Amino acid sequence: MSQFYKQLLENNKKWVAEKTNLDPDFFTKLSEGQTPPLLWIGCADSRVPANEITGTQPGEVFVHRNIANMVLHTDMNMLSVLDYAVNVLKVRHIIVCGHYGCGGVKAAMGSNQIGLIDNWIRCIKDVYRFHYKDLDAIKDETQKFDRFVELNVVEQVMDLAKTSIVQNAWNKGQDLWIHGWVYSIKNGLVKDLNVNYGSNDELPDVYKLTMEIV
Ligand code: CO
Repeated sequence: MSQFYKQLLENNKKWVAEKTNLDPDFFTKLSEGQTPPLLWIGCADSRVPANEITGTQPGEVFVHRNIANMVLHTDMNMLSVLDYAVNVLKVRHIIVCGHYGCGGVKAAMGSNQIGLIDNWIRCIKDVYRFHYKDLDAIKDETQKFDRFVELNVVEQVMDLAKTSIVQNAWNKGQDLWIHGWVYSIKNGLVKDLNVNYGSNDELPDVYKLTMEIV
């Protein structure tokens, strides 16, 4: 067994000792339940850990991560997390957080085949197609890449707003906000893209849903 692997279990014991040292009831309190105010939808990239970036503790963030922080309407995993977060946990905020230098977004800019993942990446290519005029106008490759990362987050925020789950919550008067962020791996800072949805008012009419029949 590698040293790295053994270290994981050692680290865990150390972490438990540190936490209980600071607060003897830390795990007892957590075991009683969770009421996180935030759902985080982020990239699976190992360099973008939701809790550390936001200075939050266990119990504060419900997390869903996949390659390139995508919100796909056919993704049962994402829909289940979203439904549970909105309808059971009643989170007040959802943040879609992308990051500069995202490998998934980079792959979507090129045409190299990688494998099964090509079919996931294809959905990111749709974002390029929606915004190709703006993106093709950017000649500097890094700037274009950065902008593509940002536009991908904007589209995923909008895709969240399009879901029946989010729109039904809004229609019921639930306090729920969706936001778009981009994290910089180079300096650790978050750029708030200022795309904030708290109702479906700003969605194009074709996406607006009326109250569900109950
Ligand atoms: Co990424």
